[in-house]
Amino acid sequence: MTEFDKTNWAKPDFGKRFIGEANISVVERRRMLEILKSFFRHHRKDTGDNAVLDLGCGDGILTHELLTVDPDLSATLVDGSAAMLERAQGRLEGFTVINCVQASFQDMLRDDILNQKFDFIVSSLAIHHLSSGEKKELFGLVYLLLSDGGHFLNIDVVLAPTPALDGFYMNLWQEWIEQMKASHGITGKGSATSSRNTSRGLKTSPTSLITSSRH
Ligand SMILES: C[S@@+](CC[C@H](N)C(=O)[O-])C[C@H]1O[C@@H](n2cnc3c(N)ncnc32)[C@H](O)[C@@H]1O
Repeated sequence: MTEFDKTNWAKPDFGKRFIGEANISVVERRRMLEILKSFFRHHRKDTGDNAVLDLGCGDGILTHELLTVDPDLSATLVDGSAAMLERAQGRLEGFTVINCVQASFQDMLRDDILNQKFDFIVSSLAIHHLSSGEKKELFGLVYLLLSDGGHFLNIDVVLAPTPALDGFYMNLWQEWIEQMKASHGITGKGSATSSRNTSRGLKTSPTSLITSSRH
């Protein structure tokens, strides 16, 4: 059994539930996608070099959004979950330059799976599932996989610097979920109200954008 197989993401129903509830459980998700597109438009659109790598792609929503900015981009989507990749393939049907790779981040660190450079590497809400050591290694690999002048955008949850801020962020998150449930007419305690992500023992707070470029 691999590291990935031991996680909830290896269970098809877990991913299905995330996709069903993501607009409720992820704070400002729509806004986050708009910022992603704005970043891509500003930094990449006119460069003409747009080989994209989507790490932990889920159902391919990030790549799908980027294709609305540049329908000519080529994309490689990586996820440990076969069920998620199947959904991504369905969502991206009709786009030709799409390559889906089933591999965990741990597999990528062990073997040279991709064997190509990318101009834009993106990830959202996936890398925090790794341990600190694995994250460091993955960021090193991302650097190696980036072409000169390429960009890396990681949209993810981070640990708040103080308990007071942590409490505030938790409250903000719960308020968001309640507001979204109310606007969708959802009553009662659904799984969108599930407790915070504590994978690897890390308590994490709502989403941040972390970017870097290779020059
Ligand atoms: C919260 S979902 C995010 C999906 C998508 N990026 C989005 O924003 O909607 C996390 C994704 O990361 C994948 N994932 C989690 N741990 C992983 C690992 N160690 N290696 C590869 N993929 C992983 C899961 O299968 C899942 O599709």
